[in-house]
Amino acid sequence: MKTRVLTGITTTGTPHLGNYVGAIRPAIRASQQPEVQAFFFLADFHALIKCEDPQRIARSRMEIAATWLAAGLDPERVLFYRQSDIIEIPELCWLLTCVTGKGLMNRAHAYKASVDANREKNLEDDDGINMGLFSYPILMAADILMFNAHKVPVGRDQVQHLEMARDIAQRFNHLYPGAGDWFVLPEAVIDESVATLTGLDGRKMSKSYHNTVPLFEGGTKALKTAVAKIVTDSREPGEPKDAHSSNLLPMFRAFATAEQTQEFIEALSDGMGWGQAKQSLVNVIEQEVAPLRDQYDQLMARPDDLEDILQAGAKRAREIASPFMAQLRQAVGIGAPSKSRPADGGNQAGKAGKPKTGKGPRFVQFRDEQGLFRFKLISQAGLTLCTSLAHQDPKQVGVILRQLELRAHAVTVEEEGETGYLVLIDEQTVAQGPACQDTVQRDGLLKTTQAAIEELAA
Ligand code: TRP
Repeated sequence: MKTRVLTGITTTGTPHLGNYVGAIRPAIRASQQPEVQAFFFLADFHALIKCEDPQRIARSRMEIAATWLAAGLDPERVLFYRQSDIIEIPELCWLLTCVTGKGLMNRAHAYKASVDANREKNLEDDDGINMGLFSYPILMAADILMFNAHKVPVGRDQVQHLEMARDIAQRFNHLYPGAGDWFVLPEAVIDESVATLTGLDGRKMSKSYHNTVPLFEGGTKALKTAVAKIVTDSREPGEPKDAHSSNLLPMFRAFATAEQTQEFIEALSDGMGWGQAKQSLVNVIEQEVAPLRDQYDQLMARPDDLEDILQAGAKRAREIASPFMAQLRQAVGIGAPSKSRPADGGNQAGKAGKPKTGKGPRFVQFRDEQGLFRFKLISQAGLTLCTSLAHQDPKQVGVILRQLELRAHAVTVEEEGETGYLVLIDEQTVAQGPACQDTVQRDGLLKTTQAAIEELAA
């Protein structure tokens, strides 16, 4: 099964070199692994909490989208979308808000830090704190749970939010028992191997310290200007220098090969001047960044194309979110009144406007001779099209049936040998077809099975 990896990028500010090395580059590399289905999105609803300047929000949204695409994100592979285009997210956020204790939110670090700052200034605890900031973790939980992400790469400051997302998911699962758990419990992933870049002054590179080196904006010129400002000691050319205590090395290493880095260290200890060292640093950064910057400039010059890419991503994301949301609405009791359909259909969500009669294909759950839980898919004509593997826990069967119904998963029917076939979810076998007499019969049943699964998908 593919691991669903999801992360959001708050759309305030312009990406800098530290963002690229610490988040963008590793995330894009991770998304290229075959066993990963990545969801990367622009968290523009979150941006509204911190920023009330519409122009800045709009500009930053565009810059960030262009940056990720220029840095190599493949929008065919990755689901790349804007949070605010997925209208199911605020909807889910409300369902989650209604199961989240206020006390849990009181404990959020970001909120507590704002309260502490107010107390220090002798202001009321909640002075200037909006409800967006207070319920921030619930919106973030909705982002994650909407797509049942397994792994969420984040910075350390976000770990508590992930714990809260798990809490909220568990609470919902518990309050609304379905055929299985509604939500997967997501895990935070903190990549220790990724470099944290130091900024111009030797502290961590961060917008809040005003010590960043721009990534694309301002071109090579802005990069050179920033690098020129990196603080060094006052040793003259010819004097030996300790690369390891310099602010240049972390940045150099992040863009160079191991040999280049070694040469750089040796050159400094042999007396290379800081001016020349900064020139080599610019060169090594440019080697990687310059071609991406061209891409970036092109994307920024074609906002309509950028928009098309985001819209296509949103469409794919909503194909997953919308049927799932319909099921969640049913679960809490606000779904459309269900049309009459077979009681053993195993498909309680249904899609409004898609009439289902008792005559179509259907899933049937049963216990086998060993007392284990399974399901079968029965065709319209009453043939058994496939039988699932056996499970100890009936919930497991429910989970698989839901995965078959939702398009969140790649469901395939594949030939096995000459006369068999298998049903797979995210490349894992969940059911198998009957042994057929020959390939011709097999091919026919395989097609019927595909069509039946298609029909039953919400
Ligand atoms: N809160 C995250 C940050 O500031 C951004 C974010 C919003 C996010 N929703 C998310 C990250 C969901 C991961 C998953 O960095």
